[in-house]
Amino acid sequence: MTTRNQDATPLTLAIPKGRLQERTEELLLSRGYEIRFKGRKLVAEDPGGRLQVMLVKNSDLPTYVHHGIAGLGVCGTDVIYENGYRFFRLMELPFGKTRMCLASRTDYRPDGDAHRLRVASKFTRFTHDYFQDRGIPCEIIRLDGSVELAPVLGLTPYIVDLVETGSTLKANDLKIVEELATVSVVLIANPAYYKFHYKSIDALVDTLR
Ligand code: PRP
Repeated sequence: MTTRNQDATPLTLAIPKGRLQERTEELLLSRGYEIRFKGRKLVAEDPGGRLQVMLVKNSDLPTYVHHGIAGLGVCGTDVIYENGYRFFRLMELPFGKTRMCLASRTDYRPDGDAHRLRVASKFTRFTHDYFQDRGIPCEIIRLDGSVELAPVLGLTPYIVDLVETGSTLKANDLKIVEELATVSVVLIANPAYYKFHYKSIDALVDTLR
């Protein structure tokens, strides 16, 4: 039996739908925070009343934390970069490490006369900054998913995308041309929320380590 937290309102935490959701719920459960979303409900509280968890779309998560709707969030550094908001990064989580890569078709041979790289990506800010910092002219076409289709269908010769196992690239006859960055999953806090709740947030971080 779990006794309810009488001292404080629960900390609020946004977690992303999709591949990080299960890993986050497992981590929380292993530390005694049992989070169950009933049916299609998108908000759940642990039985101890210490944590209220909101299930949000990955790319919307920084918006919820920035506006303080959730004080804390579990988020990839790729998504944080694209959003541009400033957060406190409290800890790196022990899952979800991926690589941001430039990829092309395995049979693609670069045209030496091409004046600029043509790249499709969901990560347009990262792609823009990466190539601009290196003085490489680049045209970026924004896509919202299934980016691997772009070189397959001839939209662009290159993509910038996340590679975890590499199986999506392989299945579509694509190869990594270059690894551009490492992406990790971090626990973030709205700075004002952290200042107000730092004692219970620090205790949560200690529990999650
Ligand atoms: C991500 C990423 C790649 C894939 C890489 O997509 O954009 O498509 O995972 O994973 P792998 O190397 O293990 O195959 P996600 O599944 O998040 O969906 P999306 O295509 O809608 O972006």
